Amino acid sequence: MRHWPLTHLTLTTPDLVLRVPNESELDELAQVASDGVHPPGAVCFPQPWASGTPEQTARNVLQNHWWARGDWREDNWRLILAVFHDGQVIGQQNLSARDFRITREARTGFWLGQRYQGRGFGTQMRAAALHLAFGSLGAERVTSTAFADNNASLRVSEKFGYEPNGVRRICVDGRPVEAHEAVLSRKQWRGQTQQHTLVEGFEACRHMLGADAEPAPVDMILHV
Ligand SMILES: CC(C)(COP(=O)(O)OP(=O)(O)OC[C@H]1O[C@@H](n2cnc3c(N)ncnc32)[C@H](O)[C@@H]1OP(=O)(O)O)[C@@H](O)C(=O)NCCC(=O)NCCS
Repeated sequence: MRHWPLTHLTLTTPDLVLRVPNESELDELAQVASDGVHPPGAVCFPQPWASGTPEQTARNVLQNHWWARGDWREDNWRLILAVFHDGQVIGQQNLSARDFRITREARTGFWLGQRYQGRGFGTQMRAAALHLAFGSLGAERVTSTAFADNNASLRVSEKFGYEPNGVRRICVDGRPVEAHEAVLSRKQWRGQTQQHTLVEGFEACRHMLGADAEPAPVDMILHV
């Protein structure tokens, strides 16, 4: 698509390709979600979008993608990429930011269809998102939030050297849940042996992602 350059952004890891899905790929992604993202009753997301019927879950995926595109602003965006393995859609990787030009901070989120979990794909997805954030966008910090019992998600962050960044108690489906935020700095990311991720089509997207200005000087950042 000529006027939506994000459709040309592609991240390639050893086993995966991450890119904005077209409408039929989005429909496939919705199907993967409706087949199950977590066991019934598990709480993985602040909005329990995958806890309803298969039909509701599929529709939530579609609407989430359409909403993110429709609501896109350079100073408040949510990039939602479909994840492909061997040509098959298997899950979704998010990268979002508010006022990125000023804050240089982004956050990630991810999910895989249940049958694709536990095979190292989540780790590759996070690595790709970190490459885009630090390597291409010039982020200074990337955050991730997981609930206290989400061992796979917490472990992925731990593997990349994230540090704890506070715990919030939030209400999900009428229940209190502890959300653990973790943060990775650019310095910590640089210090790692990084998995190879190829980023293509980024320059055309730079402006849309609010990454086309020099970062704010460090002495202008207020520490409160
Ligand atoms: C979270 C998620 C994306 C991770 O992807 P994944 O492909 O399953 O993760 P990986 O296989 O790359 O790695 C997971 C790591 O956690 C570990 N792990 C997985 N389940 C675990 C458990 N129950 N207890 C402890 N460690 C666990 C794995 O051993 C692996 O660590 P290792 O490489 O040191 O062995 C995926 O599990 C998922 O979609 N879960 C449901 C949705 C979800 O929770 N999304 C995140 C919301 S914050």
